[in-house]
Amino acid sequence: MTDNQQSLTVRDNRTGEEYELPITDGAISAKDLGKIGTGEESPGVAVYDPGFTNTASCRSAVTFIDGEKGILEYRGYPIEQLAESSTFLEVAYLLIYGELPTEEQHEKWVHEVTFHTFVHENLRSLMQGFRYDAHPMGMLMSSVGALSTFYPEARNITDDDIRHEQIVRMIAKMPTLGAWSFRHAQGKPYVYPDNNLSYTENFLSMLFKMSEQEYNADPRLVKALEVLFILHADHEQNCSTNAVRSVGSSQVDPYSAVSAGIAALFGPLHGGANEAVLKMLRRIGSKDKIPAFIASVKNGDERLMGFGHRVYKNFDPRATIIKKACDDVFEVTGVNPLLEIALELEKIALEDDYFISRKLYPNVDFYSGLIYEALKFPPEMFTVLFAIPRTAGWLAQWRELVDDKDQKIARPKQIYTGDRHLTFVPSSERWA
Ligand SMILES: CC(C)(COP(=O)(O)OP(=O)(O)OC[C@H]1O[C@@H](n2cnc3c(N)ncnc32)[C@H](O)[C@@H]1OP(=O)(O)O)[C@@H](O)C(=O)NCCC(=O)NCCS
Repeated sequence: MTDNQQSLTVRDNRTGEEYELPITDGAISAKDLGKIGTGEESPGVAVYDPGFTNTASCRSAVTFIDGEKGILEYRGYPIEQLAESSTFLEVAYLLIYGELPTEEQHEKWVHEVTFHTFVHENLRSLMQGFRYDAHPMGMLMSSVGALSTFYPEARNITDDDIRHEQIVRMIAKMPTLGAWSFRHAQGKPYVYPDNNLSYTENFLSMLFKMSEQEYNADPRLVKALEVLFILHADHEQNCSTNAVRSVGSSQVDPYSAVSAGIAALFGPLHGGANEAVLKMLRRIGSKDKIPAFIASVKNGDERLMGFGHRVYKNFDPRATIIKKACDDVFEVTGVNPLLEIALELEKIALEDDYFISRKLYPNVDFYSGLIYEALKFPPEMFTVLFAIPRTAGWLAQWRELVDDKDQKIARPKQIYTGDRHLTFVPSSERWA
């Protein structure tokens, strides 16, 4: 018997039967719905939910989002505080291991990550085999998948020590692979990691170092990149995280699962919006063209890229932080001329009833592209810059999945709509 305050009474009008389904944490179990059937032969009721818009696939203690209130928390800590006062590696540890590290844990973690940044030379050869114009996301996805062949022990996903080692390796090697995919497109020599540098400094060094002995990045750029990495580290059950969990549920090694996440992130509906913002700003061209552009958005001919979000319906807390980071970056690089258009566009849109009534506000992508461009990244690299920090979130979610006794291999139901009971006619008769 369930507490009727925490249950749902469902009447099946086909049979007149009533069922009481317990509500736990605001959800009913799909399995309980499956008990509602019309007889031995009839399957139970299923939930039809393409895109999982209202289906919880897991219990998770990693990231909390309240879209109405514009709240984002990692393991309970507000994103604003983490972006202001933490580092990416500390946040990665928090996401993966659930608690802020002690001084000793932090020192060990940073040391481990720093000393696993090198990759096997054969992986370097593999990357060099790509065509000169290979998309860096394609290179990243393949090389992360290839890492599984270098560490076959990674298949032992229940051994905590082995699992930790793969987590360290992946967090450590992702900037190396990402930077090399960038250098590859430019025909420049790959730069080896420098273990004297911090995580983000080392990444910048592998991206931009030429003949100097040591690459010294401007500390304001290093801080801005840390902030961007922290903001992108996790975002609960989005498309790529769902891909990592779904593939990981087959108990494959984490390199293969994360490369599936990179594949999902590669898609324009997921990781590509900031590039679309830049294209839009460039197309608008000058402030005086903004009213005409807004009018075409309101007519439905255009979309204001970088505005609106499936979850955030008030403001995207990441956008507020990124806007601040813009100022710091532009202090070093000079102002991106598109910023003026972006600011004016935002001002006009935020006062316009079309956007207010639909709860459309700037999202994380509205300003991130401007920063990346000011840092001299070509648009193809934007998603790589997303994948590197998101690896921390993917691994946190993967680790949680592996330890979750409720989880099973992901295997959704379908509603079959095709033919049945046809009789096969051999080609000799069909084509006669
Ligand atoms: C993010 C996004 C896909 C969310 O979509 P969603 O939650 O499915 O919202 P909907 O598409 O149902 O939009 C609701 C209404 O707002 C309008 N709308 C949503 N985003 C809009 C935008 N960026 N510009 C203009 N109108 C927009 C829709 O046309 C719709 O209007 P209607 O009710 O008159 O039909 C969508 O806001 C979008 O395409 N934004 C631009 C792309 C972008 O910045 N993506 C990055 C997300 S981090």
